[in-house]
Amino acid sequence: MFKKVLGFFSNAIGIDLGTANTLVYLKGKGIVMREPSVVAIHNDTRKPIAVGAEAKKMLGRTPGTISAVRPMKDGVIADFEISEHMLRYFIEKVARKTLFAHLSVVIAVPYGITPVEKRAVLDSAQRAGADVAVTLAEPIASALGIGLPVGESAASMIVDIGGGTTEVAILSIGDIVHAKSIRVGGDELDASITNYVKRAYNLDIGPRMSEEIKIRIGSAVKLDEELRMEVRGREKNGLPHSLSIGSEEVREAIGENLNQIVDAVREALDHSPPELAGDILTRGIALAGGGSQLRGIDKLISDATGVPVFVGDDPMCAVVNGTGRFIEDNHWRGR
Ligand SMILES: Nc1ncnc2c1ncn2[C@@H]1O[C@H](COP(=O)(O)OP(=O)(O)OP(=O)(O)O)[C@@H](O)[C@H]1O
Ligand SMILES: [Mg+2]
Repeated sequence: MFKKVLGFFSNAIGIDLGTANTLVYLKGKGIVMREPSVVAIHNDTRKPIAVGAEAKKMLGRTPGTISAVRPMKDGVIADFEISEHMLRYFIEKVARKTLFAHLSVVIAVPYGITPVEKRAVLDSAQRAGADVAVTLAEPIASALGIGLPVGESAASMIVDIGGGTTEVAILSIGDIVHAKSIRVGGDELDASITNYVKRAYNLDIGPRMSEEIKIRIGSAVKLDEELRMEVRGREKNGLPHSLSIGSEEVREAIGENLNQIVDAVREALDHSPPELAGDILTRGIALAGGGSQLRGIDKLISDATGVPVFVGDDPMCAVVNGTGRFIEDNHWRGR
């Protein structure tokens, strides 16, 4: 069956439909698109006005008639109508450039989505212009994308810290031995920072500000040189205000979320058969996803588990690069 599907992949794209970012890989070309998973819609007509980076600029600052929506939540489609608009926009944008006659699409989906959700994603892709659509489990995709030896019997472990979820998986012989997805990712960290700033300083900050704080001064472990930055928001009296905050404070704000990620990794290690645990101890745990770029998260996980941890190359592109490997590599016969 799979050989037959792969035979069609002459015109093929791979898509990572993420909570925070959507990326598209075009066969023979590599990554051709990378945009925030945001759609701006007209409130009355629900017609999309902007998609991607342009729509993200509108998050938190739209006038009454427009809403900027993120159609993916916790790694899965939360709003089908809008996510389909987004998918169509991305597929058409790529397809226009290449004048595809026949288009096959590989979509990476979180491990553990239900068959109904999977069907819905595939239907959405077909309505958005795909002639053939298949899904690929995200942990397999991200492991392929960072070049782990997924097909070997020796086990690999991958932790993908995305915007909506963190997926922890142990892989062996091209398949998932154990996987767990928790609804803690970059978005949760941002929310914790927003709450902290509100609690500590009575300052309201928007989602883009909290993400900026996390990226610029966030850390998972104590830093040799702690960082500070200027934060802008709105005070209780409604007036704009700015103040300086430090990386120690941000660490305190996100500490509980990071513990949940560490617990999920520990639990996966506990569940792995002894031989596989031995492989992982030798090979280390690979990190992927945007959240793996948080300062010191590799050290935090390594200290907590006693297993070496490394951040994969180009971690935000791991999943989409994995769909690319899947499309390009004719030897791959996984699921
Ligand atoms: N340098 C950084 N430090 C910390 N977090 C970062 C950094 N760069 C990006 N991020 C975070 O990574 C997240 C996005 O990662 P990614 O693109 O892998 O998610 P996604 O695939 O869209 O989400 P999901 O896999 O949950 O559906 C965002 O929360 C973003 O704030
Ligand atoms: Mg992801």
